[in-house]
Amino acid sequence: MAVELKQVSKTKPVLLGDTVTPIEVIKDVSITVERGQVLALIGPSGAGKSTLLRMLNRLEDPSSGSILLEGSDIAQMDVRELRRRVGMVSQTPALLPGTVGDNIAYGPNLRGEHCHPQRYLELVNLEQDLLHRPASALSIGQQQRMCIARTLANRPDVLLLDEPTSALDQTSANTVMNLIGRLNRELSLTVILVTHLMEHAQLIATQVGLLVKGQLVETGPANQFFQEPETEIGRKFLRGELDNHGV
Ligand SMILES: Nc1ncnc2c1ncn2[C@@H]1O[C@H](COP(=O)(O)OP(=O)(O)OP(=O)(O)O)[C@@H](O)[C@H]1O
Ligand SMILES: [Mg+2]
Repeated sequence: MAVELKQVSKTKPVLLGDTVTPIEVIKDVSITVERGQVLALIGPSGAGKSTLLRMLNRLEDPSSGSILLEGSDIAQMDVRELRRRVGMVSQTPALLPGTVGDNIAYGPNLRGEHCHPQRYLELVNLEQDLLHRPASALSIGQQQRMCIARTLANRPDVLLLDEPTSALDQTSANTVMNLIGRLNRELSLTVILVTHLMEHAQLIATQVGLLVKGQLVETGPANQFFQEPETEIGRKFLRGELDNHGV
């Protein structure tokens, strides 16, 4: 398997009224994502989707439980190597200074490795003549594709995406989603995608995980889930009737 979560819980200090109370925002989540699969993490706002994703490359650590990458506990790995292998693309494009080429080659350059930024431009369907442009001169949709190229230049095993199209117009969003689907197929890249758009989950996911109030309330093959969820909570969620108080 590529990624395995074993009984992962996370407690965070949350301000309730004027007192800080520890709240378990992820509760005993166990899930396996096989290599080359696309897991869509879905659920109402505040369910813990971003928290769960951020634990996969150790932007946060679980309070208990363990996370394995290809069978090895990520808590024992060198964090830089982990983040190379488990790349993350954020909600809004995060630009580094310099040209598009500088951005794409950033990770390999840091490690003293050679990189052909052109190859990654091609992978994300950006024109070669953008290579020497300042990254800030690209459109938002192009910037997001450049950020995906920058992550791919690290040759990750797993790609984490947290609402990667929320800053994009519908056409750019569709382009980016189709691109992620193609990269998954062509590079056998394991993808974990947080999205609130069920049409996007349906487009590329092979597996879904429905989180509500920190609990994984349903998981299984995407086509089965979208045809007929197994749980009443799943059905309610697809009807748009579930908020984060609904478990
Ligand atoms: N830094 C933090 N400190 C305290 N509580 C936090 C922090 N970040 C998130 N939380 C709380 O943890 C819970 C899960 O938050 P998270 O951001 O993971 O949810 P989400 O499913 O990604 O929501 P959304 O769909 O709105 O992005 C929420 O109750 C949130 O208020
Ligand atoms: Mg979130």
